[in-house]
Amino acid sequence: MTRPTRVLVTGAGGQVGVDLVDVLAGAVPPGGNSHFQPDGQVIDADEFEVLGVTRGDLDVTNEDQVRSALAATRPDVVVHLAAYTAVDRAERDREACYAVNAAATGTLSTNAHDVGAHLITISTDYVFDGTKGDYVEGDITNPLNVYGDSKRAGELLCRAEDTVVRTSWVVGVRGTSVVHVIADRARRGQAVRFVNDQRGTVTVAADLARALVALVRARPGGCWHVANEGATTWFDLAAFVGRTLGRGDDFATPIATSELSPAPLARRPAASDLNTTKFARDFSSLPPWRESLERVVRDAPRGVRS
Ligand SMILES: NC(=O)c1ccc[n+]([C@@H]2O[C@H](COP(=O)([O-])OP(=O)(O)OC[C@H]3O[C@@H](n4cnc5c(N)ncnc54)[C@H](OP(=O)(O)O)[C@@H]3O)[C@@H](O)[C@H]2O)c1
Repeated sequence: MTRPTRVLVTGAGGQVGVDLVDVLAGAVPPGGNSHFQPDGQVIDADEFEVLGVTRGDLDVTNEDQVRSALAATRPDVVVHLAAYTAVDRAERDREACYAVNAAATGTLSTNAHDVGAHLITISTDYVFDGTKGDYVEGDITNPLNVYGDSKRAGELLCRAEDTVVRTSWVVGVRGTSVVHVIADRARRGQAVRFVNDQRGTVTVAADLARALVALVRARPGGCWHVANEGATTWFDLAAFVGRTLGRGDDFATPIATSELSPAPLARRPAASDLNTTKFARDFSSLPPWRESLERVVRDAPRGVRS
């Protein structure tokens, strides 16, 4: 009998991490789709040995801790999800942001290589400036904000054999994404205003987790764009969440980014939607964003406060 593939997941308590740990264990996370697996292979409960670590177990900015953890556990694959994800706060907290998103990613890459593990790390659509849209993996990066620049720096510190997954607008049932805030307002009978001049690709965490399992199996190396099918705007997304919860057309009002008050600290790209043709060709497309988001909205817990 072959032994399970040992997978160490950093950031296991985060939005993507909780879903990935479930999926690797053969479970279906809330908001997940048991019929969707991009490589078409069933996930057996004993296929993977999952070592999910949170900041309390392993601070990824501590090189000694990273070295010891990898030497002690000797994983086959490291999925590096730990990240500084507060995009606006990063503008005033540059050092901490680069320490996690750039330097620690380089440390993970080096130490994974040293123990013979394959590294899969997650990057973002915010490496792009949003002037083009429909971005493919080889497009030129030009981040507009500290978070995007720190993630690009992390990509550049990876080895050629590492797998870099760029994803975007991630929403999970167990996260604290904007979708929870929109759903809560819809349920409380309130209205929302959302920008209609930022276009992107939604990624449901449970679907991303299944894509990551396919990449854990294949260990392809190189850069991959992974998101649900179809681009949208924040306004369209908010209106869709409202409609899913029975609200009418008056629930969401479109506004321009320039109307946001106070203005966010970080600039956002206008069109950073990811072209996922490469992943679709070698695996399969993720479901259309509305189909997966509907599941998230229906499964999301009530009572979130904005
Ligand atoms: N969310 C999105 O829309 C989005 C879009 C594109 C790409 N991504 C990328 O996708 C990946 C997963 O994101 P996510 O949405 O799951 O983010 P998340 O919910 O913010 O989770 C990130 C996790 O990293 C942990 N972490 C932060 N600093 C750490 C450190 N020094 N050592 C160990 N753990 C640390 C956090 O722990 P604490 O809670 O203790 O801080 C948190 O559990 C990240 O690489 C992110 O950049 C996310």
